[in-house]
Amino acid sequence: MSAEPMLQVDDLAGGYGDTAILHGVDLQVQSGGATALLGGNGAGKTTLMKTLAGLLPVRRGRIRFLGEDISRLDCDKRVLAGLVLVPEGRMVFPSLTVQENLRLGAINPRARVHWHSTLEQVYHVFPRLKERHTQHALTLSGGEQQMLAIGRGMMAMPRLMLLDEPTLGLSPLMAQHIFGLVHTMVEGGLTLLLAEQDVRKALQASNHAYVLENGRVVIQGGASEVASDPRVQSAYLGL
Ligand SMILES: Nc1ncnc2c1ncn2[C@@H]1O[C@H](COP(=O)(O)OP(=O)(O)O)[C@@H](O)[C@H]1O
Ligand SMILES: [Mg+2]
Repeated sequence: MSAEPMLQVDDLAGGYGDTAILHGVDLQVQSGGATALLGGNGAGKTTLMKTLAGLLPVRRGRIRFLGEDISRLDCDKRVLAGLVLVPEGRMVFPSLTVQENLRLGAINPRARVHWHSTLEQVYHVFPRLKERHTQHALTLSGGEQQMLAIGRGMMAMPRLMLLDEPTLGLSPLMAQHIFGLVHTMVEGGLTLLLAEQDVRKALQASNHAYVLENGRVVIQGGASEVASDPRVQSAYLGL
């Protein structure tokens, strides 16, 4: 058995056009459980996730996933390999129904053949989506749209889900509910990289954590170790 982590990111640089945002990120995600990606607004969390997902080019460095170098693979090939982004801002198709949105998540050939049984699993985790399966996505609340975005990600049968700011803009009660669902998915065996601005909740949900600042990893370690780091306590936990 190989001891290689599920995701191994070495010296990753990237950004938008001429604008460099990531300046040599080193990061690992082990199989099973959640890894938190923390940092304030503009730290580079979304840019990192988009680069991992293949939506932005790798300028330097390397991304290995399940033992393969995927740095130059197209986004859909990464999804096929099991690396699935649930983007910030939900991005559901408003004029499609809940079930149509979910079905689109299973468009990759590996997931397509199983779409019906995966749909049952998604409806089991998100009964609210089952209740509303014929409704257009635009009629859903923000929290329900977030559930739909996560459910659509699950439909792709991810081995690693990149979950970008799932609680952004939600009420505290709905955010709590989403964290509960995250917990359920991890218990069910999903591996997660979770970007969050709610540092306290993210650390509670994770085994390991990275803190990004200005496109660089400034702190990393076990979740409890990071939670007790004085820099994290003063900058993010208000202690
Ligand atoms: N499309 C874009 N073009 C140029 N710069 C961008 C774009 N999107 C984000 N940025 C910049 O990249 C930096 C990191 O942003 P982002 O990755 O969204 O951070 P986070 O997700 O941690 O809030 C910010 O300075 C932001 O202004
Ligand atoms: Mg972001």
